[in-house]
Amino acid sequence: MDKILVTGGLGYIGSHTVVELQKEGFEVVIIDDLSNSSVETLDRIKAITGKNPQFEELDLKEKDRVEAFFKTYKDLKGIIHFAASKAVGESVNHPLKYYENNISTLVYILKALQDLETSNFIFSSSCTVYGQADELPITEEAPVKKAESPYGNTKQIGEEIIQEVCKINSEFNAIALRYFNPIGAHDSALIGELPIGIPQNLVPFITQTAIGLREELSVFGDDYPTEDGTCIRDYIHVVDLAKAHVVALKRLLESNNKTNYETFNLGTGTGSSVMEVIKSFERVSGEKLNYKIVERREGDIIAAYADTEKANKELGWKAHLTLNDAMLSAWEWEKKLRENL
Ligand code: WQD
Repeated sequence: MDKILVTGGLGYIGSHTVVELQKEGFEVVIIDDLSNSSVETLDRIKAITGKNPQFEELDLKEKDRVEAFFKTYKDLKGIIHFAASKAVGESVNHPLKYYENNISTLVYILKALQDLETSNFIFSSSCTVYGQADELPITEEAPVKKAESPYGNTKQIGEEIIQEVCKINSEFNAIALRYFNPIGAHDSALIGELPIGIPQNLVPFITQTAIGLREELSVFGDDYPTEDGTCIRDYIHVVDLAKAHVVALKRLLESNNKTNYETFNLGTGTGSSVMEVIKSFERVSGEKLNYKIVERREGDIIAAYADTEKANKELGWKAHLTLNDAMLSAWEWEKKLRENL
């Protein structure tokens, strides 16, 4: 069985990807520093797949420990690199934390990989690199725009660093996956999004409001130039997203990549407004959501949704789960989470 390293493998997208890798027969090693995840997730992954991933609690900012890790695990066939800080708002107030945690750690991993004869590297990137795209839907050829936040900048810089490594080392194969808005949870409701503190993102705020943890949802503006005045995003079910990582990894393992650096947008290709997400939640949950319209949030773009042709045609991957599927799974997860509290 090919052994695959998943950094940040106890996180939201990471844990769902570990489940899909194990289902495909891969042996998984997880590195996580538990700064934004819980070690309990290991047991939950095992409860879903019956397989125990190897786990190393490791802070990737500790360069010597990163080097030692890769000296021990010389038989890794691929790396999926999720580990990073990802709260846009927090990054504005703590830029150096983001540059250190998202960039230095990437450099340490890439340096440690130099000693391996070949590397297959999947990088967790984001549609944030496009900013407000000039044209919709957004293709991979859309220009990368000046990042609106240090978080977004770390994704742009991360992609550039990896491209430089691919340029000088033809044996280094990488794919950057640009996620749109990941939402939802595994249908077992054993793993899902675990926001620490007040959720920044829309969907966990909706489910926490409905379960009674939050008073009401604030809708950040309904005066945008869209049909119902609220912002549009491409909400992709986290399980579809996780499956895309396995497909991308296999593309590299089977040397089906066209060049040794590729990027793919991962979205559904459909845009949904904030009000449409709220209505979807109310429909699938039967709950009436308490919300109010407030002023716009600084830095929000009006609309973004993916052109999925390249991922469909070249990666051979397509999202299948709908917004309603995702909202129902998010609600089931929220209810299960509160049951265990
Ligand atoms: C979605 C929409 C808000 C909260 C960010 C990152 C992106 C990715 C996903 C990491 C917007 C509105 C939200 C609320 C609201 N993260 N909203 N009330 O900003 O599109 O993307 O998270 O990779 O990189 O930029 O996601 O969920 O914060 O917002 O009205 O309480 O919901 O204005 O229109 P966003 P989001």
